[in-house]
Amino acid sequence: MRTSDRLLAAANFDALISGSDLPRLEARALLEHASGRSREWLIAHGDEAPGADSAARFAELAQRRRAGEPLAYLVGEREFHGRCFKVDPAVLIPRPETELLVDLVVQAARADATLLELGTGSGCIAVTLACLRSDLHILATDTSEQALATASSNAARLCPKALAAARLQFRAGDWWSAVNSGERFDLIVSNPPYIAAADPHLAQGDLRFEPANALASGDDGLDALRVICAGAPLRLRAAGMLFLEHGFEQGAVVRALLGAACFEQISTLQDAAGLDRVTTGRLPA
Ligand SMILES: C[S@@+](CC[C@H](N)C(=O)[O-])C[C@H]1O[C@@H](n2cnc3c(N)ncnc32)[C@H](O)[C@@H]1O
Repeated sequence: MRTSDRLLAAANFDALISGSDLPRLEARALLEHASGRSREWLIAHGDEAPGADSAARFAELAQRRRAGEPLAYLVGEREFHGRCFKVDPAVLIPRPETELLVDLVVQAARADATLLELGTGSGCIAVTLACLRSDLHILATDTSEQALATASSNAARLCPKALAAARLQFRAGDWWSAVNSGERFDLIVSNPPYIAAADPHLAQGDLRFEPANALASGDDGLDALRVICAGAPLRLRAAGMLFLEHGFEQGAVVRALLGAACFEQISTLQDAAGLDRVTTGRLPA
């Protein structure tokens, strides 16, 4: 019997999970989504019969997951820095290594600092910062209107006060063109696309389903990082800081780009896996 037919005939919730040909945790997450039941409820009521609608929804989601669609897109959410962000195929799925960028900015930002995020995607960086630091004034940009709609809805749910007080604002535009000529910031943060356009990983795993614009950046993956590094000194105040996420093999080249843009105190920090992940620099005072 085909897996989908087996699922449609499943006698109870446990049989849906065990018959899905998926890792148990993934199957349970899809079943929570398909049935509207909590994880705890499904554990306590695993021997109960699912409704026909729930079983059909689960069978369809399980089939798409087996075909490779990311779990986060199928359930429409992903946790980042302890908060649940809505995600859809217009935005990059937030990565745990990006939490380092947030932690570094929280530590470095003085009270009432102004902050620019370039390429906000789901809004996971800007919204988390607005939640953690109610004193910051944050402008988050992206070239994708669809991504900005997703980021705005995450902000409306997770930090409505920051939106209402205009402490968190979103704006569309291509890198620096989103910034008005007179605007200056104390801090600039970005997790830009940084994969080489011909990198075979783009055709594998979850990356196949994520927006190309969020992943790839030119022949060597450095186009966006070059534009951001070169333009940052014009938009930062004296002693302002730039925080950039990048690929684990790009630390040296990003340090060189920051040096060429006259940044000082340049350093690269490692993620939880011990890989170069974030490079920071400060403008002279
Ligand atoms: C790697 S994703 C990061 C998303 C989010 N900040 C995160 O960390 O999960 C890069 C983001 O940059 C945006 N982007 C790509 N090209 C851009 C451009 N020319 N100007 C502004 N944003 C751009 C993409 O739409 C995408 O949302």
